[in-house]
Amino acid sequence: MEKKWFKEMSVYQIWPRSFCDGNGDGIGDLKGVISKLDYIKSLGVDAIWFSPLYPSPNADYGYDIADYRNISSDYGTLDEFKTMLDEAHKRGLKVIMDLVVNHTSDEHEWFKESKKGENNPYHDYYIWRKGRKPGKEPNNWLSTFQGKAWEYCKEIDKYYLHVFAKGQPDLNMDNPKVREEVKNIMRFWLDMGVDGFREDVITFISKKEGLPNGFPLPTATGIEHYSNGPHLMEYLHEFKDVLDEYDCFTVGEAPMMTTKKALKFIREGENQVLNTMFHFEHMNCDNIITNWIVTPFRPSKLKKVYKRWQEDLYKKAWNANYIENHDQPRIISRYGSEKYRVESGKMLGTMYILQSGTPFIYQGQEIGMTNANIPSIDRYKDVSSINNYNLFRKLGFSDKFTMKICMYAARDNARTPMQWTNDKNAGFTTADEPWFEVNKNYHEINVQQAENDPDSILHYYRKLLSFRKENDIVKYGDFQLLNTEKNIFAYIRHMGEQQLLVVCSFSEKECAFRCPKQFDIESSELVLSNYDKNIVIHNGFMTRPYETRVYFIK
Ligand code: GLC
Ligand code: CA
Repeated sequence: MEKKWFKEMSVYQIWPRSFCDGNGDGIGDLKGVISKLDYIKSLGVDAIWFSPLYPSPNADYGYDIADYRNISSDYGTLDEFKTMLDEAHKRGLKVIMDLVVNHTSDEHEWFKESKKGENNPYHDYYIWRKGRKPGKEPNNWLSTFQGKAWEYCKEIDKYYLHVFAKGQPDLNMDNPKVREEVKNIMRFWLDMGVDGFREDVITFISKKEGLPNGFPLPTATGIEHYSNGPHLMEYLHEFKDVLDEYDCFTVGEAPMMTTKKALKFIREGENQVLNTMFHFEHMNCDNIITNWIVTPFRPSKLKKVYKRWQEDLYKKAWNANYIENHDQPRIISRYGSEKYRVESGKMLGTMYILQSGTPFIYQGQEIGMTNANIPSIDRYKDVSSINNYNLFRKLGFSDKFTMKICMYAARDNARTPMQWTNDKNAGFTTADEPWFEVNKNYHEINVQQAENDPDSILHYYRKLLSFRKENDIVKYGDFQLLNTEKNIFAYIRHMGEQQLLVVCSFSEKECAFRCPKQFDIESSELVLSNYDKNIVIHNGFMTRPYETRVYFIK
C-alpha cells in the first residue's frame, strides 16, 4: 500500500462554536483556537478539521453558509483565520476546511437572487419546481430535519428543494455554473494555504432526473433518489481536476455508504475521486437507520462492520476512522460506560485508533466527555433535535419517553462547550453565560484535571497517537478479526514479521479472552493497557470492566 502523508496523519475536529471563547462573548472563536494550538499539537495529531467557520445565520450552526469566502463575525475575521492558519502550519498542523456544497443558506446572495424569478441568472442555481397542483408540493420528499422537503415561495409561485432544514436550499449541481462556483471556492481556500476538505453530505449532490416520488418514510422520504445520484461520480471527477492541482486531502461524508459503493469513489487509481470517506455503519450499532430509533448496543454488529471496512478496503482504499463528531452523541455514553468512564474511554480509543485508516478525534473525546443529559426540550439548540422531538410527540409518544431518547440521541450532546478547567463555565468563556450550557460534570471532567492525572484518558490518547505514529504496522498492517466471545472485540494486525494483538472488552462483566494457539501472549510484549497488573494465564485472561490490552505478539 502506497504511503501518503494523509495516511500517516491523525486529525482533531473542532466545532468552533463550542471550542474556546477568546473574546468573552460566550461563543467559541478563532482567537480561542489560536490560544489552544499548543494543546492540540500536544495531543500528537497532525491536522485540524474545522466544522464550518463561514458566515451563517445558524439555522444549522454553520452548515448553512451565507458566504463561502469569509469567516463568520462570531468567529473572527479572514485575517484572523490567516493568522490561525500560519500558526497551525508553524506547528506542523495541517488545516482542513468543511466544504458544504449540497446546499447553501437561504441568506446566501445566490439564493436571494435566485428567488427573484426565472429570468434571474441565479434562478437555476437551486432546485425550483411548480407544485403538482395548487398547494401541493412537487413530490412527496421529506427533509431530514423539518417536515416537507419543499418550501413554497409565493412571489414566484414555485417551491424550492431543501433535503435538510428550510434554511438550507439545495444547490442545483446539474447547472455547470454551480459546479464552477464550487471549484472556485475550493481554489480560494487552497490558494490561501488550506490543506484539504471534509466534504459535507457530498454523496447527496446529484438528484435523480424528474425528482420522482420516494418510498414513504417518517423522514427523509426520497433519499434513494439523491443519495449516490446519477451524476455524482462525474461531478466528483470535475472537482478532482481542481484538487489534483494541489497536494490536498479530501474526505467525503457519505451517509448509508457500504464498502462496495465506497470503492467506486475511493479505490486507489485513475478513477479515485476522494482520498477517503466517512461512512456511518459503525454508528448504527445502538439504533436502526437513525440515532433516534434506539436499540441496545450490540458489539457483535460493531465487529462485523469493522471487519468489513478493514478487509474490503485493505490494499485498495483508505479508511477514515472516527467514533465521535458534532453529529454523534458522546461515545462513552453509547458504546462505553459512564460508570467506567475512564476505562471505557481508553478502550474505545484503542479499539478504533489501532485499526488501519486515518483517525479523527472530536473535541472533548480526548478527555472522555459524556452526554449532556439535558432533560428539557426548550434547552436544546439543534434544529434536528427539536424537530425529531416534535415528530415523536406528533406520533403520540409522551414527553417523558421522547426526552429519554433525546437525551441519548441528540446531537446537542456533542455540542456543549469544551471543558477546559474546573472554573466557572468550565473555562470555556469569561462571559456570564456561554451560548449553550456547559455539561454539569465539568468539575470532574476537564482538560486541567486530565493534565494533572497521569492515568487520564487524555494522557492515554497521547500514548495511542504516538504509538500509531511510531509503528507502521498500525497504519499499514493487515487486519484479522479474532473469534472471541461476543463482548470482546479482538484483532490482530500483521506486517512483515510483526504482529500486534488488540483486545477490547465491551462489558463490565468478566469475559474470558483466549488467544489463538499459534500466538503466545505470555512471552509477548504488552505495549498499552488500561489497568495495572496484567496477568496472563493459559495464554489468555479474564477481562476487567472495559479492559483493553495491546501486545506485540511473539
Ligand atoms: C452533515 C453535517 C451535519 C449537517 C448536515 C447538513 O451531516 O455533518 O452537521 O447538519 O450535513 O449540512
Ligand atoms: Ca467569542
